[in-house]
Amino acid sequence: MIKLGISAFYHDSAACVTIGGRVIAAVEEERFTEIKHDYSFPINSIKWCLREAKIEFKHINEIHWYENPEKKDDRVSTTFAKKPFRTFFLNRKYKKSKKSQNPKDILESMGYTGKIIYHDHHYSHAAFAYFTSNYDHSAILTVDGVGEWETTTISVGKGRKIEKKISIDFPNSLGMLYSTITSYLGFKPNEGEYKVMGLAPYGNAETYKDKLRSIFNNTSNKYTIDQKYFTWEYSDKIMFNKNLCILLDLPPRLPGEELTQDHKYLASALQTVYEEQFLRLLKTVKSITKSNNICLGGGCAYNGVANKLAYKYFKSVHIPFAPSDAGSAIGVCLTSQTKVSPYLGPEFKSSTIKRVLSGYKDRLYYLPLSDEKLINKIAGYLCNQHIVAWFQGRMEFGARALGNRSILASPRDPKMREKLNRVIKKREGFRPFAPSVLEKDVGKFFDVKEPVPHMNVVAKTKVKYLPAATHIDGTSRVQTVNKQQNYKYYKLIEKVGKISGVPVVLNTSFNLKDQTITLSPKQAIERYLSSEIDVLVINNFLILKQ
Ligand SMILES: [Fe+2]
Repeated sequence: MIKLGISAFYHDSAACVTIGGRVIAAVEEERFTEIKHDYSFPINSIKWCLREAKIEFKHINEIHWYENPEKKDDRVSTTFAKKPFRTFFLNRKYKKSKKSQNPKDILESMGYTGKIIYHDHHYSHAAFAYFTSNYDHSAILTVDGVGEWETTTISVGKGRKIEKKISIDFPNSLGMLYSTITSYLGFKPNEGEYKVMGLAPYGNAETYKDKLRSIFNNTSNKYTIDQKYFTWEYSDKIMFNKNLCILLDLPPRLPGEELTQDHKYLASALQTVYEEQFLRLLKTVKSITKSNNICLGGGCAYNGVANKLAYKYFKSVHIPFAPSDAGSAIGVCLTSQTKVSPYLGPEFKSSTIKRVLSGYKDRLYYLPLSDEKLINKIAGYLCNQHIVAWFQGRMEFGARALGNRSILASPRDPKMREKLNRVIKKREGFRPFAPSVLEKDVGKFFDVKEPVPHMNVVAKTKVKYLPAATHIDGTSRVQTVNKQQNYKYYKLIEKVGKISGVPVVLNTSFNLKDQTITLSPKQAIERYLSSEIDVLVINNFLILKQ
């Protein structure tokens, strides 16, 4: 059985090919188009997945689509019908896009006449979360902006079955509230949420907590959100109205405007109120499912600070490497527990890399090295406070660089965080960096309950000497690395440990300001040359500027 999974037309479009239940290839469209969170039909991703799987379009037995267009249409039309005059132009725009975004029409125009199976949006999140876990029984909680109607679901996974127990529907959406305050604080919704989470520990929640709490009406195991503050039902531009400004008594921040203490207080209050609601949900999940395990899915599962709360009710927590809509393209193809590595994207042969490098002869030195020599050399550079762009094998799927398209540095250098933020990534100084640590040593440095291979749980840092990878509140979004996950990266961190006594490296994604994560050797070289990164490694090539 050959399946093609697709997610598209909301954010983070992606495609995946599975053969006989095994994930052969998966990639996000943004990596090809270089448009962050690209939501267009993932034609480049599909083409690459087919090439990688060595098949043609006609060989596909089933196409699995990550949401149900009919149910989505029902939500949109019902919502517009509530305010027909206010939504007149928006409705017209929607009808136009509905026509051009019809999955069946698009796939038929590509010559596909086979089966298209539509899955509920939150089922797709749940399937990716549960089927990539190693549990045969687990609670599943999915939280995001909105799917068709659903914004939150609680399910039970048992063997190969996922049974939904409870859902919360639009317009009651924790994800949309988070995005709204993100936009209120002058950051891009569906993108800037990390920034708000990073900003939160710089303030305290007191000033705005009760105001944000008053937006909710908590019922026994659900909540509703008072719509008088929001435009979610009638606008696709600004997500809030003047009532929210009056409630908060704080003007919305324009992008680029100075960040004041009040903005930090609001970020803190949002994170606090989000965590309160998330904790209520977790309690409900526990009482319904009685499971010791939980799988978290949906875009909100990127909130590593809230995720750690799951340990209050559950012994083991699984969060897949791409819990937002991109991962759904993989989730829809899975029907049972499957070991899926995050390294599912393009890789490049030495001959290709060499050919690309030869075009930069007058600007670069390069040298192919054995694994051992390369690792010794790079570990030495890292221990001497050099910044290394580390490009290896197949690229990661999802928002996190997990050691194949990463910028690495020393977490022990107190100046490194400022340098990386200001000089390399050119981003806000308050944003933290994450550490990668050997799984076997994680307990010495970080307070985690179990391995966190996908960097989506924030943990207390136990030591004082990792300043560049420790946030202001003494926490880190840690990634544990073992040999099976990523052998070469493991060996590199191990060597750093042997030299310095601390097997930890700072790991941030290999991209510069506003760029998508590096896909190809050419991009890697161009980005290296245009930045102050000291060393570039592409597979076994050590590359230096002349
Ligand atoms: Fe979603």
